[in-house]
Amino acid sequence: MAGVEQAKFSRRMYLCLWAAAMIVCAGGLTSRQAAAAEAPAPSTQLYLVGVGPGDPDLVTVRALKVMKQADVLFCSDRIKEKFPAEFEGKEVFGGYWRLFPYYGQDLTQLEGDERREAEALATKRNEFIAKVRAAVEQGKTVAIVDSGDPLIYGPWAWCLEEFEDLRPVVVPGVSCFNAANAALRRGVTSGERTKSVILTAADWPGKTDTIDKLAAHGSTMALFTMRTDFEEFIKKLSINYPAETPVAIVIQAGYADKEQVIEGTLGTILSQVGQKDLPFEYMIYVGDFLTYRYKKAR
Ligand SMILES: C[S@@+](CC[C@H](N)C(=O)[O-])C[C@H]1O[C@@H](n2cnc3c(N)ncnc32)[C@H](O)[C@@H]1O
Repeated sequence: MAGVEQAKFSRRMYLCLWAAAMIVCAGGLTSRQAAAAEAPAPSTQLYLVGVGPGDPDLVTVRALKVMKQADVLFCSDRIKEKFPAEFEGKEVFGGYWRLFPYYGQDLTQLEGDERREAEALATKRNEFIAKVRAAVEQGKTVAIVDSGDPLIYGPWAWCLEEFEDLRPVVVPGVSCFNAANAALRRGVTSGERTKSVILTAADWPGKTDTIDKLAAHGSTMALFTMRTDFEEFIKKLSINYPAETPVAIVIQAGYADKEQVIEGTLGTILSQVGQKDLPFEYMIYVGDFLTYRYKKAR
């Protein structure tokens, strides 16, 4: 409570100091400087916060600080459970996680089930937007909290455009990409034939940089899977990478007790995984960095 009051006091102080500075400086400013200084930068009231993947100890000190300071938080139940101390006694809203589809699109161009789905999402999105704006207008600090890094395949990135006028601040998080690299214990940029890495996700209608085209570059690839069929990924990768290309699957990276790595090649990985039920939290890596060694066998 003390932190929240202190944050509000700091905001009021900031505005007073800004007004005083304007009175003192106005005579000496060029018109350009005066125009630039016209609107005070509001001290931040809206944050998009990444809290890392896996166990809670992969969060940053900055994310913890912002969550403690916030009056209102938007996040999934899983995130709320991960940080009980930071969420204690706060207004917490769930259920707004995946609102980006169709954002910014003209819904009148859509038909049937797609139109109905887009309209339902727009209703939910507008409800969320109204809640955020109402809280900020009441002088509350709002944090939208996401796992991993919020700007790597993050479902909240659209908010930065929607709330542009509120000058939201992004708190970066450790991505599952970082945690999965750590689980592999290999330098992801240290391939034998390439030092480049492509981060990608499943193909969708209209996507031009499809997985098979990306694979033609021969770069290392890290795939965010998002419920896409595993076999489909492997088949697309196999179009341009040879069967002996090293592949790794990293399951639940960043969870000390659950993390798992399966290594093989494009030719063997389907049978290695077999009927195993892969969870939502897994990544696929392709590239010879997986077998690269600095000390070559003589
Ligand atoms: C919507 S993306 C979110 C990524 C997140 N913004 C990040 O930076 O970690 C979700 C996908 O990331 C991957 N993912 C998320 N958490 C993971 C974890 N702990 N281990 C492995 N992969 C994970 C999976 O491919 C999952 O389908």
